[in-house]
Amino acid sequence: MRVFLVDLLATLALAQALVKEEIQAKEYLENLNKELAKRTNVQTEAAWAYASNINDENEKKKIEISAELAKFRREISSDLQKFQWRSYQSEDIKRQFKALTELGYGALPEAEFADFLETVSAMASNFAKVKVCDYKDKLKCDLALEPEIEEIISKSRDHEELKYYWREFYDKAGTAVRSNFERYVELVNKAAKLNNFTSGAEFWLDEYEDDTIEQQLDNIFAEIRPLYGQIHGYVRYRLRKYYGNDVVSENGPIPMHLLGNMWAQEWSEIADIVSPFPEKPLVDVTEEMEKQGYTPLKMFQMADDFFTSMNLTKLPKDFWDKSIIEKPTDGRDLICHASAWNLYIKDDVRIKQCTRVTQEQLFTVHHEVGHIQYALQYQHLPFVYLAGANPGFHEAVGDVVSLSVSTPKHLKRIGLLSNYVRDDEARIKQLFFTALEKIVFLPFAFTMDKYRWALFRGEVEKANWNCEFWKLREQYSGIEPPVVRSEKDFDPPAKYHISADTDYVRYLISFIIQFQFYKSACIKAGQYDANNAELPLDNCDIYGSAAAGEAFHNMLSMGASKPWPDALEAFNGERIMSGKAIAEYFEPLRVWLEAENIKDSVHIGWTASDKCVAS
Ligand SMILES: *[C@@H]1O[C@H](CO)[C@@H](O)[C@H](O)[C@H]1NC(C)=O
Ligand SMILES: *[C@@H]1O[C@H](CO)[C@@H](O)[C@H](O)[C@H]1NC(C)=O
Ligand SMILES: *[C@@H]1O[C@H](CO)[C@@H](O)[C@H](O)[C@H]1NC(C)=O
Ligand SMILES: [Zn+2]
Repeated sequence: MRVFLVDLLATLALAQALVKEEIQAKEYLENLNKELAKRTNVQTEAAWAYASNINDENEKKKIEISAELAKFRREISSDLQKFQWRSYQSEDIKRQFKALTELGYGALPEAEFADFLETVSAMASNFAKVKVCDYKDKLKCDLALEPEIEEIISKSRDHEELKYYWREFYDKAGTAVRSNFERYVELVNKAAKLNNFTSGAEFWLDEYEDDTIEQQLDNIFAEIRPLYGQIHGYVRYRLRKYYGNDVVSENGPIPMHLLGNMWAQEWSEIADIVSPFPEKPLVDVTEEMEKQGYTPLKMFQMADDFFTSMNLTKLPKDFWDKSIIEKPTDGRDLICHASAWNLYIKDDVRIKQCTRVTQEQLFTVHHEVGHIQYALQYQHLPFVYLAGANPGFHEAVGDVVSLSVSTPKHLKRIGLLSNYVRDDEARIKQLFFTALEKIVFLPFAFTMDKYRWALFRGEVEKANWNCEFWKLREQYSGIEPPVVRSEKDFDPPAKYHISADTDYVRYLISFIIQFQFYKSACIKAGQYDANNAELPLDNCDIYGSAAAGEAFHNMLSMGASKPWPDALEAFNGERIMSGKAIAEYFEPLRVWLEAENIKDSVHIGWTASDKCVAS
C-alpha cells in the first residue's frame, strides 16, 4: 500500500513537472518563432537581392547568410531536444516542436551544406543566364528564354527553327550542369539520411504528411489517363495534317518541339492549329489586352481586385513598392521565372515576374497573387506555420481564381471579350483549350518527380540518367525529343525546377485539388449546379462571392498549423484528395473526343521512342 502511494505521488510529481515544463516550452517557442522570423527575413532579403540581380557578390552573400541560418537551426536543435515535447498535452505545441526539430538540408555538416548551396546556385544561375544565337542571324547571340525564346517556341510553326532552339536551349541549360547535378543528388541523399529518411524521395515526400501520397497520385492519375490518351491521339492526328507524315508519325510519340512549349508541359499555345471546330471562336484576349493598353501594373491590379471582390485581403503598400513586375532593362541578369515571396515581416510580400501583356501571363499573374493572398491570410501565425497546408495547396489558390478569370463569362464582365457566342461547339473547343493546359500537364508534372525519386532511390545507373528521363517522358506523356539524345547530353536541368531544387509533385497535387476547390467555390457562389444546364462548371465565375471568399479564408488562415486534410475540410468539408472534380469538369470533352477519334480512325496510344541512345 505504501509503496503504491509513493509510486502514485512520484507519478503525480512527474506529471506536474511536465505541465510546468509545457508552460515554459510555450514561452520558449514564442521567442524562438520571433527570432526565426527575424533571421529568415534577413536570409530572404539576401535571396531576393540575388534572384533579382545575379552577380558573384550577391551570390556569395546569399550563401553566407543561408549557411548562418542553418547553423543557428542546428544549434537550437540541441536545445529543443531538452524538452520532452512528445509527451505534452497540446497538439499545437507538439506540432511546432516537430517542425522546428526538422533541419532539412541544414542537417548536412557545415562544409557540405555550403557545397549544396553552391551547387544549386550554380545550376540556377546557369539556367537564368542561358543565351542563344538567333536562328537566322547567327551573330545576334543575346536571346534569353524569357521573353525571346519562349515567344519563338510558342509562335513559330517552322519545325526546323523550333528544333534549332530546342537543341540550343537543352544543351546550354541541361548538359552544361551534369556534374553539378550528380553532386546535387549525392548531397540530397546524404541530407535525407541525416534526417533518418531512406532516400531523398522519402525526404521530399515527408512534406505531404501522408505515407500513401505516392499511391494516391498513381490512382488518380490512372483514372485520368484515358482522357489524356484521347487528347494525345487527337493532337497527333491534327499535327500530322499540319506538318505532314514525315514530321509526325501516325503511331509514335509526338516530337515535343511542335507543342508550343519548351518542355511540352502545356500545349495551349498551339491551340490555333490543333483545336476542333476551326470556324468557331477561341477565347484569346491577348490582342484585346494590347488594344486596350493593358500594362503589367494593370494586370496585377485586376488580380488584387478579384481577391478583394471575394472579401479577401488587399495587397499591401509594400507589395507595390517592392515587387518587380517587369523585366529590368539595365542589362543585369536575374531569375525571370515568376515567383512570389514572403519576407516574414508584416505585409512585406513581393512578386518577381518578367510580365508580358498576354492572356497566359494574366493567368500567371493570378497564380502568383494567389501565393501572396495565402501569405497574407496566415501572417498572424507563429513562424513555423507560415506555409501552405502542403506545397500543393499553395500552388492551387491562384489557379482557382484563374479558372474563373478564364471563363467567357468573366472575360465579358471585364470587357475583354465581346461578340462571343458560347454554343455547344464553342464550348467543346474551349474545354479542349483548357485541357491542353490542365490535363496535358498531369503526366508531365508526375515525371518531373518520378524521375528524381528514382535517382534518389538509386534505381537508375548513372550511365542511364539521361535516357531514363526521356523514357519516363515517353511512357507518361507520349512525347520525344526532336533530335536523338544520348548520355553525352543531360537534359533534365533544362527545366527550371530541376536546376533550382524545387519539388514538382506540388504542381501535380495543385492541378488535381484546384478543381476540388473550384467546384466547391462555384457551388458556394451559386454559380454551379450539376442539374442546371444554365450553370455549367466550365463557365462559373466566382468573382464577387463573399461565400467563396469565406471558404478560402477558412482554409488559408490556417497556414500549416494543421495537417492538410484539416485544411481541405475547412474549405469544403472533404478530407480526401480526389480526381472526381477534374473529371467532372472535362466530362463533356471526354464524350465528344471519344466519338470524334473513332470517327476519324485516330490511333490511341504510342509506340516506344528511339530518340535516346546509350552513348
Ligand atoms: C546589383 O548588385 C550590385 C552588387 O551587389 C550592386 O552594386 C547594384 O547596385 C545592384 N543593382 C541593382 C539594380 O540593384
Ligand atoms: C536519427 O536516428 C538516430 C538513431 O535512432 C537518432 O539518434 C537521431 O537523433 C535521429 N535524427 C533525427 C534528425 O531524427
Ligand atoms: C468579410 O470578411 C470579414 C472578415 O473575415 C467578415 O467578418 C465579414 O462578415 C465578411 N463579409 C461578408 C459580406 O461576408
Ligand atoms: Zn507557384
